[in-house]
Amino acid sequence: MSVSGAKNHALKIFAASVLFSGPVRIGNVPLIEDIFRMSELVSGLGIKVRKTGGHIFEINADTLNKTILDSEIASRFRASVVLIGPLLTRLGRVSLPHPGGCVIGERPIDFFIEGLAKMGANFKNKGNHYFFEAKNLIGADFTFRNPSVTATETLMMAAVFAKGKTVLRNAACEPEVEALAKFLNDGGAKIYGAGAHTMRIDGIGKKNFLKQKNPLAVIPDRIETGSFLILGALAAGPSGIKIKNCEPTHLASLISHLESAGVSIEKGPSWLKVSRTKALKATHLKTREYPGFATDLQAPFVVFLTQAKGESLVHETIFEGRLEYVSDLNRMGAKITLCDPHRALILGPSSLTGREMESPDLRAGLAFVIAALVAKGRSIIHNVYQVDRGYERIEEKLKKLGADIKRI
Ligand code: EPU
Repeated sequence: MSVSGAKNHALKIFAASVLFSGPVRIGNVPLIEDIFRMSELVSGLGIKVRKTGGHIFEINADTLNKTILDSEIASRFRASVVLIGPLLTRLGRVSLPHPGGCVIGERPIDFFIEGLAKMGANFKNKGNHYFFEAKNLIGADFTFRNPSVTATETLMMAAVFAKGKTVLRNAACEPEVEALAKFLNDGGAKIYGAGAHTMRIDGIGKKNFLKQKNPLAVIPDRIETGSFLILGALAAGPSGIKIKNCEPTHLASLISHLESAGVSIEKGPSWLKVSRTKALKATHLKTREYPGFATDLQAPFVVFLTQAKGESLVHETIFEGRLEYVSDLNRMGAKITLCDPHRALILGPSSLTGREMESPDLRAGLAFVIAALVAKGRSIIHNVYQVDRGYERIEEKLKKLGADIKRI
């Protein structure tokens, strides 16, 4: 199977196009619901978005003429929040509702507010609606209390046209952040150190809009790659699953956890091959910022651990509401004890039985799909909009691998 482009890279490229003059061409864009919502959101700002080929989009922000994000659309996905940075620096103002997305914890935006205030922006809110204004943003030295992916991306983009130098400390190092910086630099931005915890952005002034020089392909989705590795280890047919068009170096932590549980994985430069492993061993897991174990792979990995012999402790350190789905796995026959909102103890192996379930968010939704494929009997999963938010035609990819799945 072939991996799609990364949701959390593609969405930020759509937002970054605000900083460009002339067309921006993006290849390998995943055709998923969050991308469709982002297209609608930026189109509502006057930006032209065209799908010019299978997975190719062309965006032109020369016609951008609005700064108010549509509340209904913006409140449906978290990535809407990164538009604050480019809109504020290009047009001097932006207003938006509290960004939506997966219900996996509180997901505040205090780092955005504090960082932008340090760069000279004024902020006010009316209930859950936010207003930012800045005639001219100025460079600042800002330290994140925790590394935040979307806050790092937002401040990085806000700093591109700011006056002077911005230093972001304890910044997020996720591959999607680094890839976004590379795209901005290719267009003329001066960002140094993206992919490390301290980065510097030398503002280039507002008169110099960015210009795309080279074609851009969205990087492979590491969460989709990881989910298929997990599925393969649990349920691949006799010839295993080969995952193509992926970036194995982005999966180092998951691969190390799978290997410690007894799974063997063959690695190539842009592919991975995994076989079904019968005697899985329990292993402990703590989610961490990149390059640690991705919180977005925690739910599929918990499904994996229900099939491993022994006791595994999973500690979700990033979000406080990202283990609630375990009650559904228990209804399927798993033996998982929720110690507190951040920790779950899994006793395995347990035999799972199909059930009817509701996807609480996109990653847990996919974990349910994996659990359903491992389980005996039939499962029905509702609210698949959540799964479609992040995975392109998942049932078709699974069917090609031999899964018995259909969309009803
Ligand atoms: N945080 C704050 N204040 C802020 C911002 C974040 O306290 O102003 C906290 C969060 O509450 C959390 C931690 O910082 O405890 C890290 O959250 P982060 O901001 O990094 O998460 P995010 O940027 O909202 C992105 C991805 C998530 C992914 C996380 C962590 C996007 C659109 N979303 O979210 O992806 O789980 O980083 O890697 O990039 C998903 O794709 O399913 C998804 C949830």
